[in-house]
Formats: sequence, structure tokens, C-alpha cells
Amino acid sequence: MKLTPQQLEQFDREGYLFFPGLFTREETKVLNDAVPELYARREAYNVREKGSDAVRTNFAAHLYSEPFARLARHPRMVQPVVELFGEDVYMHQFKINGKMAFEGDVWQWHQDYGTWLNDDMMPTERAMNVAIFLDDVNEFNGPLMFIPGSHKRGVVDAKHDLSTTSYPLWVVNNELVSKLVERAGGKEGGIVSPQGPAGSMILFHSCLVHASSSNLSPWNRVSVYLSLCAVSNHIRRHKRPEYIAHRDFAPIACLPDDCLLKDYPVDLPWKNGMPASALATSPEPLDQIKEAA
Ligand code: SIN
Ligand code: MN
Repeated sequence: MKLTPQQLEQFDREGYLFFPGLFTREETKVLNDAVPELYARREAYNVREKGSDAVRTNFAAHLYSEPFARLARHPRMVQPVVELFGEDVYMHQFKINGKMAFEGDVWQWHQDYGTWLNDDMMPTERAMNVAIFLDDVNEFNGPLMFIPGSHKRGVVDAKHDLSTTSYPLWVVNNELVSKLVERAGGKEGGIVSPQGPAGSMILFHSCLVHASSSNLSPWNRVSVYLSLCAVSNHIRRHKRPEYIAHRDFAPIACLPDDCLLKDYPVDLPWKNGMPASALATSPEPLDQIKEAA
């Protein structure tokens, strides 16, 4: 899938591109059908909502689930990002966010690159977020919200929030959010929320400020979030476990376009469980560890 000059210009200006219905119902069904069994597992890689059994986010499914391993190599998702960066990419993070009916909690306003810089020592913002809807997303089930153009500000001030939700996040304060929204057009487009059928895809810049509200509707809003990082921009520290911030910097090799509907073989290194090394962490940058060894 090649991006047009208009799409490249729009991405630069707004910080995101929306592709409604990019994957078919048949393709997303293969993925969605695999989710309940993954969410039922009592593993560290399933983070549940505060005070509830509903899964908020599942990490690294592409390492132990065949349908998601195929999605992680899908050319419709990977190729536009390779084109934008002019370089191969590797998988930095892979999440299946639940935002389950009646249970899904908020995601505060934040930028992803702030976390990748502060925690993982990712050198620059050459990493892209991709969201793929596994359920229809509407105004009621907690759609993702963006402040268009906010990526132009680079990394903004953020506070590490360890208590509001079950997942720690570097969050942007309300005063700055208000200013950014005003600058983006206030009530006229200062916040946007792409909505559409299951199978829709969003590409968004790693510095774009985003959030989502809770899901009080009777409809799940399961979405996959993949973070693709330019290979030369790989992280320099393993402060977070490997199931959250990946350590395999090999370029993604794409499968054919029909890979969600055909059984192409894929490697599943964590099929029989996560290795103990995936939980090991270190506050030291990688080059210092190598020098000390
Ligand atoms: C995220 O920002 O990582 C998740 C947001 C959402 O699932 O709504
Ligand atoms: Mn995010």
C-alpha cells in the first residue's frame, strides 16, 4: 500500500492518517475470535482494569498467537510505515486493548514517545503507532481522541501517573491539553476521534497527544496497537520487561497480503510460555552493560 503525496502531507500536518475498513470483516473475525482465550490466561502479559477482571491490555500476543503473529507481519500495516521512515522497522510494542463493554476505563491524555524516551531510551521519535479496530468504534464505546498537530510540539511535559488506572502512564496536564486543543481549533476540530467499522486502521505519530474515555456502552471496543520502530532507532535500555518493550530489533519480514486468511507458517517463540529472561530488567543502558561484561 503506497501513500499518496496528499496522505504524506496530511500526516505531516495532522499527525495521523485514518483508513476506514482497511481489513475485511472476515479478516478481523479471525483476530477477534482469538481474543477471549488470550484474555482468559492468568499471565503477567494480561493487565486487568483496576478492581475488575476485565482485561485492559494484553501484551506481545504476536509471540504466542498465530493470527496475531500474522497481523504483525501484514504488508497493509507495515509497508506504509516503512515508506514513511525510508527504513525497515521492528516491533517495539504489541498490545490488544480491551476497553470492554461497561468496564473499559479511561486512558489519560499522553504521548507514547515520552514513555519510550524516558523508560526505554529510544533515541528519536522515529517510531509509529498503528491502531487496528477489531470491533466497530463509535462515539459511545470510548474511541481514541487526538489533538491534531500536537506532534509538532515534540516531547511535552508529563507526570508519571501510577494510581489513576491500572497501567502506569506519563500523562499531560489539563492546562497544557487545553492550550493544545485551543491551538488546534478549539471546538472546531481541536479534538478529533476517528470512528468506523472493525478492520479500520489508524497510523499516528509517536508524539501525537491522545486519550480515550471510559466505555459505558454495551459494546466492546477491542483494538490492536502496534508500535513500529525504525531499526536504527532501537531502544538502548531494558528497564521494562520484554513483553512490554521488545528486544528483538530484527526487521519485520512481511507475509503476503492474504496472510490473515491462509495458514502461512509463523515463528511463535513464546508459545509454551514466556522465558524468565523476558521478566528480567535493568536500569543500566545497554552499552554500559556490555562494557561491564
Ligand atoms: C493507548 O494510548 O495506548 C491506548 C488508548 C486506548 O486504547 O484507547
Ligand atoms: Mn498511547
